[in-house]
Amino acid sequence: MDARALASPSSQRFRDRAISPDGVIQLTLNHPPPVPEIFNTMVFKALNRVLAESLPAELMATHRWMGTDHERQQGALFVGRRLGVVPDRNRIIVTHSTQAALQVLLPGIVGNRRPLAIERLSYSPVRSFAARYGISVVDVSIDGDGLNPEAFREICHRKRPIALYLVSTYQNPTTVTMSLGRRQQIAEIARRYQVRLIEDDIYSLLTESPLPPISSLAPELSWYLLGTAKSLSAGLRLAFVVAPDVAEATRVFWPGLPATYWMASPISAALMAELVSNGGDLAILAAVKDELAARHRLVVSGLKGKPLASDPGCLHVWIPLKGASSNEIAAALLEAGVQVAVSASYAGDGWAPPQAIRISIGNPEKRSVLEKAMSIVCRALP
Ligand SMILES: Cc1ncc(COP(=O)(O)O)c(C=O)c1O
Repeated sequence: MDARALASPSSQRFRDRAISPDGVIQLTLNHPPPVPEIFNTMVFKALNRVLAESLPAELMATHRWMGTDHERQQGALFVGRRLGVVPDRNRIIVTHSTQAALQVLLPGIVGNRRPLAIERLSYSPVRSFAARYGISVVDVSIDGDGLNPEAFREICHRKRPIALYLVSTYQNPTTVTMSLGRRQQIAEIARRYQVRLIEDDIYSLLTESPLPPISSLAPELSWYLLGTAKSLSAGLRLAFVVAPDVAEATRVFWPGLPATYWMASPISAALMAELVSNGGDLAILAAVKDELAARHRLVVSGLKGKPLASDPGCLHVWIPLKGASSNEIAAALLEAGVQVAVSASYAGDGWAPPQAIRISIGNPEKRSVLEKAMSIVCRALP
């Protein structure tokens, strides 16, 4: 197949995936921008190899629980690029997604005797999952450099959380990447109070200047989660989990676990293992990063100097709204044909967050759709 064929959709589809049937441009979903040419090339190559090595009936006969030895070894190499060392493959669990892994980890390591600490503005499903499992949540305040260490220390002292869930690179929704100093402080406090860390590093593969995960500073306390859905493709959705040790990996993710269907689909797990071993993942990542950087330039010029928090590798942009209501701006934008997320949806009850909106810039397939949305957003901002 030639490169042009690889870049164009095979089905008769005319509408950009970000445009809803009623014509609204949806900038709420944080999907990586599509890079079809390189993605198709790399995935065709990897799938051919996977299918040459094992017959479909063998590959798909059953799920493989925590992953085959080979998949866990490739997963160890994949997370090892972030952690600085390749962990023992028996500490790796290949899961369906970060969300699925969290639904095992929350009841498995937090339980309902002591609370879970989270950043005051945080990835919202974590609050819903905690509520589902009867887990109380305690908010830790954040500042321009991420989770506030003094607030964390105080919470550890007063509330004795058993674990802290956090996103240290390109925090959702604020876009903040914690400095190395902050990471070291958080690790030190977690160690002092024996708080387990659930570090969701899903956006970290997109940055040009990666910092070590906190999990690499306190591995004995950490559950490290590295998902693929935000960096490679939303549909190639897997999350590699690194447990603090082999015994914990086996205890928490034991095969008979009566929980959500957290196991990875065999074809995705085998495909990802092959992409890691032949470098296809790195080629796709490089293309995604280039496309994202181009989209950031477009957003910055489209917003004509309005204040915003962003970074060329971040899938979302955070727009503070001084003196304006985020609900009102979001409603006006929806009326004008653009859907965005508001700050309140990332906060718990009982605290009114600063007014802001979050815009996801990877969802539109075409830059022209994002460009159009940005001109609408710019007009609606104060
Ligand atoms: C911080 C964070 N973690 C996890 C996810 C979802 O990950 P997955 O698709 O692997 O469940 C998202 C999606 O928006 C996210 O923002």
